[in-house]
Amino acid sequence: MPFTIDRLSLLADGVAHGPEGTVHVAMALPGELVEGTVENGRIAAPSILTPSPDRVKAPCPHYRACGGCLLQHASDAFVAGWKGQVVETALAGRGIAARVARVETSPEFSRRRATFSGRRTKKGTLVGFHARASDTVVEVPRCRILRPELLAVLPALNAMTAAGASRKGEIAFAVTLSEAGLEIAARGGKEMDPALFQTLAGLAEAHDFARLSWEAETVAARRPALQSFGAARVNPPPGAFLQATAAGEAALVEFVLDATRGAARIADLFAGCGTFALPLVATAEVHAVESEAEMLAALDRGWRQAQGLKRLTHEARDLFRRPLLPDEIDRFDAVVIDPPRAGAEAQVAEIAASSLRDLTYVSCNPVTFARDAERLVQAGFALADVIVVDQFRYSAHIELAARFRRT
Ligand SMILES: C[S@@+](CC[C@H](N)C(=O)[O-])C[C@H]1O[C@@H](n2cnc3c(N)ncnc32)[C@H](O)[C@@H]1O
Repeated sequence: MPFTIDRLSLLADGVAHGPEGTVHVAMALPGELVEGTVENGRIAAPSILTPSPDRVKAPCPHYRACGGCLLQHASDAFVAGWKGQVVETALAGRGIAARVARVETSPEFSRRRATFSGRRTKKGTLVGFHARASDTVVEVPRCRILRPELLAVLPALNAMTAAGASRKGEIAFAVTLSEAGLEIAARGGKEMDPALFQTLAGLAEAHDFARLSWEAETVAARRPALQSFGAARVNPPPGAFLQATAAGEAALVEFVLDATRGAARIADLFAGCGTFALPLVATAEVHAVESEAEMLAALDRGWRQAQGLKRLTHEARDLFRRPLLPDEIDRFDAVVIDPPRAGAEAQVAEIAASSLRDLTYVSCNPVTFARDAERLVQAGFALADVIVVDQFRYSAHIELAARFRRT
């Protein structure tokens, strides 16, 4: 029986309504007429009877098998519109009417960090991304989202998998492009022994990696794996958070600088290694708060070595359990907040109770963002501006930046 797709789910499946209830349809777009076998409320391999005008031929040869991308069958304009709509719908569900002002999508071949999976097989090794809804590993030598430097490392990751994967286990290779070359943090491999260390160290040298770590052990630190944030250069701890693309980071930093212009004292909460704190400290005093002390130590070293910056203080603090309290918040002219997917419920409750007037919120989850936005609006803030910054093109992941003002 054919189904008509009404909308996309948050995981980018098509959603249709049949006599038995809601049906999720893989890789289908709104308005399309589809049919296929329904299993557990889902059509995994639909026939598209009437394609949407937004349907395009997926540009990547790995798209059918690889689970890394979910939306290559839709035009860029459709995906941008959908991501904006998801944010607007999440806000509307909380009683906030808002328009996403623009969507800044990072170009193809621009992702500078990715986690590859490596496994040993009967014939040798496989390194790539997981297949859709499966733990099978799919090789992705012609991936269109990653920077070429990340694809060039695949032979070395295969060699590391051959040397260091257990028979049944899987290695997760977190690969980051730094200014000094590639930084690789491997987890899930065999326990280190002298022979493995020698092989890995040899590979790090042969491939000129800036840094290679295996679980908590540093195998090679040939150069500091530097990242520039504003006027400072930071050497983040292995595998530390970094915005996924340089274009996405630039769009977020520009938004944050613009939204906080004129503030003399700024708190940067969930500060990481200083993506926002270090550009901000060019013109304002900044207090950076983050739970990972090692990230703050890297931020601090970067700040000390840079020239001409204003005062920066920092504090390792769990902001879920011990958010900044109203009297602490009131010391600042503006606050920037960039929490993980869970959002910042506890911190936002304290901000609501403070006298703060200017808040910039960077979020990687429209659902928790909308929940926190509702609390802010109840406390007298107005949502002044919201944009989507799409660093994860072709995926269902959505990031945004918003400015709240209280008059
Ligand atoms: C989305 S990242 C943003 C980092 C930074 N703003 C950036 O753009 O590079 C979220 C940060 O929150 C930190 N974090 C996670 N849970 C936390 C908590 N409970 N309290 C404080 N920081 C936390 C993580 O270590 C991470 O650095």
